[in-house]
Amino acid sequence: MDKEGTQLIRGLEGVVAAETALCDLDGKNGRLAYRGYDIEDLARRASFEEVCHLLWYGELPTAAQLDKTTLGLIAARDVPAELVQALRLMPKDTDPMRVLQSVVAMLGMRDPDATDNSREANFRKAVRLTSQIASAICVHHRVRSGLEPIRPAPDLSLAANFLYMLTGKRPSGVVAKAFDASLTLYAEHELNASTFTTRVIVSTQSDMHSAVAGGVGALKGPLHGGAGEAVMRTLMEIGEVANVDAFVAKALGERRRLMGMGHRVYKAGDPRAAILKGMAEDACRQSGQFTWYEMAVKLHARVNEAKKLIPNVDFYSAPLFYSLGIPVDLFTPVIAAGRIAGWTANIIEQHEDNRLIRPRGDYIGPARRAFVPVDRRGA
Ligand code: COA
Repeated sequence: MDKEGTQLIRGLEGVVAAETALCDLDGKNGRLAYRGYDIEDLARRASFEEVCHLLWYGELPTAAQLDKTTLGLIAARDVPAELVQALRLMPKDTDPMRVLQSVVAMLGMRDPDATDNSREANFRKAVRLTSQIASAICVHHRVRSGLEPIRPAPDLSLAANFLYMLTGKRPSGVVAKAFDASLTLYAEHELNASTFTTRVIVSTQSDMHSAVAGGVGALKGPLHGGAGEAVMRTLMEIGEVANVDAFVAKALGERRRLMGMGHRVYKAGDPRAAILKGMAEDACRQSGQFTWYEMAVKLHARVNEAKKLIPNVDFYSAPLFYSLGIPVDLFTPVIAAGRIAGWTANIIEQHEDNRLIRPRGDYIGPARRAFVPVDRRGA
């Protein structure tokens, strides 16, 4: 404690900054639930649409409520024509997360509720953003690849429609379910860096689009959502299972940070990684790319033996996404397409019980000193 009664906690580790009814994260025992429902049940037995409803409105939907939420999401799937135009004008080699951040800001310019922070307006914006973000990622990928955008298919789930708008092919039921479950596993995770960012932004009474654009910026970093893409690049660098031992020895010797390993809160294990591991095994086998899975398993084992580090959510999602045909630089946008459910639910929660989030800095610069005019400074 210093003289003003403040205490420096680097990285805010262990600091509780908000009450939340959304996510129950038990880091010690490696358990995770959304609004009381275990993540494994939700990933295996609920659709992403049901999970969105649960996070936004507090309860799993009845069949009629699910229809209403699903229809609302489908109705919002089209990307505004001006946005498609803007995407065509963006440099083709710009990274898709930078594009997504601009997309969210542009969607805010056209949203009829943009500056309305009421509960009802926030629900409407949450629905729109969830659908529009998914569609915009696909439209951007198509136009940067010199392909025409694909109109959304109203008969498909959000997950299946994403894969359809990305590739032009309707995914099999198995592939769509794996992708849907991935979105659920990424949907919410308490006060992770990007969700905290969204809460900081709306704590100033700013609006949902501004907060989500900030969340996208935070998610992009390799210590957060960017880790999945980095995992896949690591696997590609390793190249084959036989190279894992040599890679790990060299990486540890260089004190290299191994992406997809370690977690601030989970010390015993990340429950999402355990589920994704099984999904990656199935998807890699079915797509004839089992070597990525084998490489990941061996890397996981070796790093765990050497450093006791656990794989986090981004470790096995990398071979899973790759085997589902998702381009590597779209892994982080895909995480955003899932996390938008949690960001928007947290924004709604923050608006309902708001206090400005404003921590302190511990000043370590020079002591007070006399001002010197520019003509008397220097030699
Ligand atoms: N590879 C190598 N060493 C790691 C590591 C990793 N992925 N994660 C943690 N460590 C080591 C650190 O070097 C440090 O060792 P030291 O005390 O000898 O210096 C120790 O473990 C604590 O690490 P620290 O970075 O202080 O922990 P943190 O709680 O601040 O970081 C992460 C958590 C997630 C940022 C960190 O584990 C990491 O960088 N992981 C890789 C990125 C990633 O996968 N991010 C996605 C998270 S879901």
